[in-house]
Amino acid sequence: MTTTSTEPASGSQWRHFTSAGAHRDTVTITSAAGCYFWDTTGKRYLDALAGLHSVNIGYGPWPEIEAAASKQLATLPFFPNWFGFANDVAEQLAERLIGLSPFDDGAAFFVQSGSEAVESAMKLALQYHKIRGDVQRNLFVSRTGAYHGVTMGALTLNGSDVFRAPFEPLPNRIRKAAPTYPYRCQWCAPVGHCNLSCGDDVETAILDAGPENVAAVVIEPLQNSGGALVPPDGYPQRVREICDRYGVLLVLDETICGFGRVGEWFGSIRFGFQPDIITMAKGLTSSYAPMGAMIASSGVAEPFFSKDSRTFMHGSTFGGHPVSSAIAMANLDIIEHQGMLAGVRQKSVKLRAMCEDLASHHPMVAEVRGDGFFIALELVKDRERRLAFTPEERSQLISKVLMPGARRRGLQMKFDDRLELAALFTPPLIAAEDEFDIMVSTLKSVLDEAWTEVHAGRVSGSC
Ligand SMILES: Cc1ncc(COP(=O)(O)O)c(C=O)c1O
Repeated sequence: MTTTSTEPASGSQWRHFTSAGAHRDTVTITSAAGCYFWDTTGKRYLDALAGLHSVNIGYGPWPEIEAAASKQLATLPFFPNWFGFANDVAEQLAERLIGLSPFDDGAAFFVQSGSEAVESAMKLALQYHKIRGDVQRNLFVSRTGAYHGVTMGALTLNGSDVFRAPFEPLPNRIRKAAPTYPYRCQWCAPVGHCNLSCGDDVETAILDAGPENVAAVVIEPLQNSGGALVPPDGYPQRVREICDRYGVLLVLDETICGFGRVGEWFGSIRFGFQPDIITMAKGLTSSYAPMGAMIASSGVAEPFFSKDSRTFMHGSTFGGHPVSSAIAMANLDIIEHQGMLAGVRQKSVKLRAMCEDLASHHPMVAEVRGDGFFIALELVKDRERRLAFTPEERSQLISKVLMPGARRRGLQMKFDDRLELAALFTPPLIAAEDEFDIMVSTLKSVLDEAWTEVHAGRVSGSC
């Protein structure tokens, strides 16, 4: 069968994380510009999710990116970074990324996605310890609810059972620590101030695994799952101390936080983490080409480079693809020249205030949290009692009211139920007040509808 780009989705593409029902209801997108995209019927949507938290510079058009890709295709469309060869643009990108990273020095390793970056970090941690004679360190600590990808290793790290369950039994590789979630923190919520017990829970997880068995702690600077969970003051330092105490590597998964989302090049810099390894993808090219990377500190890289015969036994054909690398370089230029990091810091004050205003008037919004252009609103049944929706209610609300309601109104955003129910905004970094107005007023209208449904008893198990 021949299809054209204007025909509706045929169902022949097996789309990712898509249920059978959602396959039938798929909306096919044909074009995008700035913060907006259009479907086959010509309907316009505001993309308050930036693709998948990833189109950081927005949809353009950016002639700089087109020129960089065309030039690279014409000069060197491909050459692998293998067998004693490197392509020049991947070399330049590596140097530039290290300069932007929280490390003074180090080594960048390129892959194609966030999952593979996390996978690479896990394998690097395992081989690093083995080289140093710590052969038994093969467990990892990650946080409840967290998402770190889909490849088998990264999958084992996920602190959310929904992604793991279809594939169990998986290697029992992970010990879970608490997320940084003051609103529902088992330790500090009752007393009203943070005593960093969530940081100490990382130590509890390490001790539970046996410190001699733990290779690395893997966390996001600001956790996406559960709704933009910000680390409290002192948490980054506490986790660093704990990792140092037990000889465990600290991996910061910057897949979403990197490249301006929280107003700095990396979330580690924004919050003051001192990692051993960082992973990234998405905003590295603003998703104009698939690319991920891992940067290891010089301390972690050193054992691999100090002996001629030693090799990190990991790699793939497309790692450091020259066209992706050229696009990444142009993307970094745009972020830098357009002052997008400072722009996020400045504009996010307004976005935050508008969300706070919605929260103060809407009975379903319990709190606003997050940082920069990474903002979540926790949605509850009863604000006074902090009463959460049941898992069935959450899933019904998302699939029957919230997602379709936002889509009908032309707003692309996310509703997350991996911990409690949260609405999430991660707009392109170019978004400004006009977009904030649409985001917040549309969300209000969607929440009004949801509140009516809940109180009419049309959401199962509701009060
Ligand atoms: C924190 C984090 N790590 C890893 C991944 C996996 O990235 P990818 O989908 O590019 O494999 C994601 C994807 O959303 C993510 O949010």
